[in-house]
Amino acid sequence: MDQTEAVRRYFDAQADSYDEYTGDGAWTPNQYLAGVLDTLAAGQVEVRTALDLGAGTGQTLEVVRAAYPQARLSASDLSAAMLQRAALRVPDAHLEVADISSHVARLTESFDLVTAIGCLELVGDLLTVLPRLMRHVNPGGHVALTTQALIDGQGAEHASTALAGADGDAPRWCYSWSTAQLLRALPGGQLRSSHLFTAYHRAGKPVLYELLLIGKG
Ligand SMILES: C[S@@+](CC[C@H](N)C(=O)[O-])C[C@H]1O[C@@H](n2cnc3c(N)ncnc32)[C@H](O)[C@@H]1O
Repeated sequence: MDQTEAVRRYFDAQADSYDEYTGDGAWTPNQYLAGVLDTLAAGQVEVRTALDLGAGTGQTLEVVRAAYPQARLSASDLSAAMLQRAALRVPDAHLEVADISSHVARLTESFDLVTAIGCLELVGDLLTVLPRLMRHVNPGGHVALTTQALIDGQGAEHASTALAGADGDAPRWCYSWSTAQLLRALPGGQLRSSHLFTAYHRAGKPVLYELLLIGKG
């Protein structure tokens, strides 16, 4: 079983319980995203079109919708079961079941805002995907993304960890890149803000994420 299939199966199985176990502050990235988008909106940055990658059950889309009520929203996710919940949460969003790498490779439209929250650490070819994605960000537009922070990397620019699969499934690989590598993979992008925070706890230990807001000049 390849990584994509292992991730799809994992999240298909999580779909019924995801919103419950990520509630009550157990999953924080979308709170940080809300703060960043509030700052953008307060700065009169207009968003008419937005794309959310790895949309899951729609928690991120809901934050984008709250910051930009008039925006036309598109989103995708590998897991049809997760996206079914997103369709209930944000009914007017255009949703597509798709892998991030292949979705980005066949994009024809460009967006004022692209969000990717809590999913890019599962994308092994991220450094190929990001430059492609930047071609689909409008001038003056933004990308808000999280990655699992590279902590204690002992000088490495990249690390990967295997997370045990459920019920004998293959492990899911979780990747981290240095901030410098991520920024190099976003040509034409300028770092507007960076936040380092505890996203959730795994086996009782905090998992640190970085939220980057990149502006395209
Ligand atoms: C932790 S959830 C985050 C969902 C949502 N953004 C949130 O913050 O609640 C990660 C989501 O990313 C999706 N995902 C992971 N790898 C993916 C890939 N390669 N292509 C598309 N979706 C992917 C999973 O199916 C899952 O729904």
